[in-house]
Amino acid sequence: MTTAPVMPAPVHFSAGTGHYALTDTTVIQATGSAQPVAEYLAELLRPATGFPLPVAAADTPATPGSPTIELTIGDTAQPTPGYLLSVTETRIELRADDAAQLFAGVQSLRQLLPHAIEHHTVQDVDWLVPCVDISDYPRFSYRGAMLDVARHFFDATTVKRYLDQMALLKLNVLHLHLTDDQGWRIHIDSWPNLTALGATTAVGGGAGGFYTKADYTEIVEYAASRSITVVPEIDVPGHTNAALAAYPELNCDDSAPAPYTGIEVGFSSLCISKELTYQFLDDVFREISELTPGPYLHLGGDESLATSDEDYLEFIRRATAIAASHGKTLIGWHEMGRSRDLPAGTIGQYWSYVTPRDDADTRVASFIEQGGQMIMSPADAIYLDMKYAGDEKLGLEWADGPTTLNDAYNWDPAAIVSGVSDEHILGIEAPLWTETIDNVRDLEYMVFPRIIAAAEIAWSPRTAHDWADFTRRLADWSPRLDAAEITYNRVKEVSWPEVSRPGMSSTS
Ligand code: ACM
Repeated sequence: MTTAPVMPAPVHFSAGTGHYALTDTTVIQATGSAQPVAEYLAELLRPATGFPLPVAAADTPATPGSPTIELTIGDTAQPTPGYLLSVTETRIELRADDAAQLFAGVQSLRQLLPHAIEHHTVQDVDWLVPCVDISDYPRFSYRGAMLDVARHFFDATTVKRYLDQMALLKLNVLHLHLTDDQGWRIHIDSWPNLTALGATTAVGGGAGGFYTKADYTEIVEYAASRSITVVPEIDVPGHTNAALAAYPELNCDDSAPAPYTGIEVGFSSLCISKELTYQFLDDVFREISELTPGPYLHLGGDESLATSDEDYLEFIRRATAIAASHGKTLIGWHEMGRSRDLPAGTIGQYWSYVTPRDDADTRVASFIEQGGQMIMSPADAIYLDMKYAGDEKLGLEWADGPTTLNDAYNWDPAAIVSGVSDEHILGIEAPLWTETIDNVRDLEYMVFPRIIAAAEIAWSPRTAHDWADFTRRLADWSPRLDAAEITYNRVKEVSWPEVSRPGMSSTS
């Protein structure tokens, strides 16, 4: 083993000799805030091993001779919070600066076990962990994935499955694009028609759907148990046909447009001149903020082509002030940088290209000048809804044609906008827009393996990026995807091993 069998690649990895054997007498030891992570680890390892794996307080003397896995929280003396994982023949020690990094370290430990650990039923396998030393910490603190549940709706069960897949890759933010022209997907008590009427549509005329507040809370809590923060997006002032169709009074002429199930953009706008619009926003932002423990609220602001420049600037000034009054740090797509009246620290999300077009770099500079940072989501590299290849059935092609795995891997967030380096970048995010995606199998096919490339860009140091090494590691790692029953595209760029589970391979 010369490189780490861990995705994303760790900062430092050294292979020793020999193995630690996980057995039916292994005990997991942890104290304090390490204990919930220890319970998570035990739950992860029990189904495939069938071992009891009790979690004990760290000061409980272990039965002599019983192998232990010890999880502790304490200083790791690394440049930013991270974890240290040491595997010897008798002991596994995982130490992290905080619970989030302990959780990340558990994902590395999980990946050192045989791929069969991903099965949900007991497997007849020797559970050997190679002796290694890993010291590791993330390049960026915000490592996101976005799911568009507005164009097509995905229920809480599907979202939880996605959260588990994100956790494996040390992704720690799920951005939910909750509202768009084709559907409003979160219940708001004070404006019930948003869901009663606005949630009944989807692209292509499907059934739609929405999250009750209980559903949303279930997602948020499940995410927290996976060390993932949920960022809700209410996209305004454009991308609002579903809201405008549900409430005629939100339109300047008091007349509701027809529900929309196509895939055009840029034709809808809230009525900028009506006070009711701002009452509406205050209610929605208040209810969403109350349901969301995380620090961020995403206001969209993209593609507002039906809003005049003057109206856009007035709207953004008022809407961001209202949203900020509910205690959240705001995020906006990069167009929002047109405004010079953003609440201090507002985060921009860049979705132009690896080589910036139009005035996207000016928008980025505006966020930074106003005290904010950037989330980088260049559409031609990390939009997971782009086709893999011209002959694929799923996906769109507007971002300069297909996005191969190589395109998804070979870019650097700090090399896009001149003067914007790691210190200005909060992190990166891989969006999945769902105009062409309406089921979990297609979702995973578009996401995997490109999201693994995204995770490596978000976590691993620039110096660790190596395409040949990445594709080799990915091929070795793919039986883990098979064992986890994750659908993925066996792209031609990778020399995949035989599929261990028939039926999982792609059509390409
Ligand atoms: C976007 O793709 N309109 C953010």
